[in-house]
Formats: sequence, C-alpha cells, structure tokens
Amino acid sequence: MTGLTRRVLEARMRLPAAPPGAPGEEAMSESSGPLPEVVRDPRELRRRLDAARAHGARVAFVPTMGALHAGHLELVRHARSLADVVVVSIFVNPTQFGPREDLASYPRDLDGDLRLLAGVPADLVLAPSVEAVYPPGHATTVHVAGLTEGLCGAHRPGHFDGVATVVAKLFSMVGPCVAVFGRKDFQQLQVVRRMAADLDLPVTVIGRPTVREPDGLAMSSRNRYLTPEQRRRATALVEGLRAASSAFAAGQRDPAILQSLIRARLEGRVDGIDYVFVGDPETLRPYEGPVPRGRTALAAVAARIGRTRLIDNAELGTDDLGVPEDRPPGA
Ligand code: PAF
Repeated sequence: MTGLTRRVLEARMRLPAAPPGAPGEEAMSESSGPLPEVVRDPRELRRRLDAARAHGARVAFVPTMGALHAGHLELVRHARSLADVVVVSIFVNPTQFGPREDLASYPRDLDGDLRLLAGVPADLVLAPSVEAVYPPGHATTVHVAGLTEGLCGAHRPGHFDGVATVVAKLFSMVGPCVAVFGRKDFQQLQVVRRMAADLDLPVTVIGRPTVREPDGLAMSSRNRYLTPEQRRRATALVEGLRAASSAFAAGQRDPAILQSLIRARLEGRVDGIDYVFVGDPETLRPYEGPVPRGRTALAAVAARIGRTRLIDNAELGTDDLGVPEDRPPGA
C-alpha cells in the first residue's frame, strides 16, 4: 500500500477536521508538518492517484503557477473540504505568456510553496518540467471561441489558448472530480468552465471569491513586483470597483456611467488602462443598453502600474465587493 493510499484510508477514519481559519496572516503561516510529496512525472502521478481512487478516494485539484499566496491557500483549503486527496500543480506554463510578457521573471519558489502547502495541507504536488507537459511533437491546442475574444483576450493574444490547453492537459493528468479556481481570474474561470463542458470532462469546476489584502488589493503573485510607491497606487483598482458597486447598489444601471466611475478612480494613479468593462458575467459581452432588471453585472479592469499588469473584478449586484460563493457539488 502506498503512503498516499494509506493516508486516504486514515483520512476516511478520522473525525471531520476543525473549520479552516480566515485567510490572512494565519493562513499564510508555514507548518512544521510534512511537506507534500512532489511528483515530477505525470504518468507516475496518475498511477498514484489511480491506486487511491481504487480505494474510493475523491481527488480535488488546484492548478497554480506557484509563487503561492493566501489566495491560493484558500483554494487548497476549500479543495481539502471537498475530497480525500488534494493535488496542487505548480507549473509556469510558457504557452500562456506573450513574447513580451514576464515568463522569464515570473516568481518561482518551489521550496517556499511546499512549506506553505504543508500548512493546509495538500497531499501531492505535480511539478512537471516543460518537456513533460509539452513533449517534442506536441501539436494540439485547445481554443475556446467567444469568451476569449474580449477583456484580457483582446490584450493578450493567444493567452487563453495557452490556459485552456494546459488546464485540459492537467485535468487529463490528474483526473480530478473537482477543480478549484479563483474568481480574480474571472475570464479564465469562465473559459475553463466552457472548455470542461464542451469536452465532456467529468470534473466540476468551482470558482472561489477573490482573497484581498486588508486595504482591498486583490492578492496576486504579481503584486510582489510592485515597489512600495506602486503598491500604494495599486488600490486604485479596487477603489474603482467599489465606486461602481456602490452606484449599482444605489440603482445605477448604465454601463457607461459605471465604467466612468471606475476610470475616474484609475486616472492619475495607474500608468495605463487596458480595459474597463461592465457587462454580462456569463457571456463576457457588453449588455445592449442598461443592465437588465434583476441581473448582476461583471465589472472588470486591467491596468498597468509601472511594468506590472494587474487585473481585478467584482460582480455588481451582490451584497459586497466579493462575489457569491459557488456551491460545492451536492450541497
Ligand atoms: O491561474 C493560473 O495560475 C494559471 O493560469 C493556471 C490556471 C494554473 C494555468 O496555467
């Protein structure tokens, strides 16, 4: 019996764990517990997980590019509550970076990530090489039409093809019954949902609310690029979203006015705006005219501070700046 299978069986005998703590400093503390095991070879991972599944284990999956922060840990903690085995992938996926983007400088800290994951804990970390994911001769790309055309897709050509392709491949390697993503990357979440549905992948895709710093800045691995002065300016994004959220709560339904409220908070504080969008959260297209009665609106923004590109969003019409929690399967 492998260590993983033994842990699954032990976990099934245990009483439910104490409820997880709130994200923040405590959630970021490293544990002195055992580090999750790192598997480099996707075939070895599948072999290990098949053995656990043969004992009835449910597998949950959290794909990441590493440089983990409290937002990632919240996803892993949520995954933990849904399944017997939690797999986290750490793979900086080259195909989702444009030629002038930050692939080379993207933060990489596997040892630090493993220490953080030990505190959740995760069971297995898939950390494959680029060659293991994209072997010579690799020729298949997954393209999700429509949803990828606007917002980040319009400013990062090919980005979502890279995301959809690698997520499809990771789903195939891990075979999870549930996968957990953050809603900060809202367009990515919708693209992955569409891809999983269209390819009949037997996985439930869960979106979790954005985890924020105390001043509201959405947590992101790229926040670590910011200088202290840039970090102060970075709250302009959430301030814009809050302004739109308050106006929406007060009855404003004109997308142009809601967008102008966001732009007003950004101007003079960020160094460039890629887009400000207020529209349909399902189609990611603008509403024709005002936001229809009884409907929410996605407010989304991408802006540059120095050389760092930040994104954030909120679903207007929910009670706070966050978004309603997705229900876990079967709840
Ligand atoms: O959100 C990310 O970290 C990445 O886009 C993902 C989903 C791990 C695919 O590389």
